[in-house]
Amino acid sequence: MATRTSRKPKTSSAAPRYTVPGLTTEQGGMVAEALQQRLNALNDLALTLKHVHWNVVGPHFIAVHEMLDPQVDAVRAFADEVAERIATLGAAPVGTPGALVEQRTWDDYAVGRAGAIEHLGALDLVYQGVLAEHRQVAEDVEEVDPVTNDLLITQLGQLELFHWFIRAHLESSGGELSTSDARTETAAAAKAGRGRRRTG
Ligand SMILES: [Fe+2]
Repeated sequence: MATRTSRKPKTSSAAPRYTVPGLTTEQGGMVAEALQQRLNALNDLALTLKHVHWNVVGPHFIAVHEMLDPQVDAVRAFADEVAERIATLGAAPVGTPGALVEQRTWDDYAVGRAGAIEHLGALDLVYQGVLAEHRQVAEDVEEVDPVTNDLLITQLGQLELFHWFIRAHLESSGGELSTSDARTETAAAAKAGRGRRRTG
């Protein structure tokens, strides 16, 4: 199974009829196209976090179950900001599940009912993919559209904090992550589970 890192949007859309003043419609269309995949990633992340909220079991159930809902709320708000930026740029944000699945370049979350640490191991990889691409797009648009860059940078600060909340559960007192070098969600979940048994 492929990891969640990637990936440029595969489709190219036509330039919008208008965009924000100071940008050409081609520039506005290019930024909106890059943002569409960020919208897909955030919608996917919000759904995945809820899936984990519902499927986590075992001794750390309530801590992880309750930790995830504020993340879901924040990520949904970020998706809303990105979608409205796409519309502001003169393009049409696409928020339907079918389009998300068709456009995304990563696999569906791979873990069903499982222990808290296993899910957190898999979520470490999920966040790695979302964050790396968010940062890449922020960099790609920095010169042409600093407003979109600022929006993504602000989101990155909060998303990276959430990623740390996940990783703190996977970290040893020596600062090592039990999921290091894992390339798939299932491998990360298995490594996280083994790490817990060693230290717990
Ligand atoms: Fe709930």
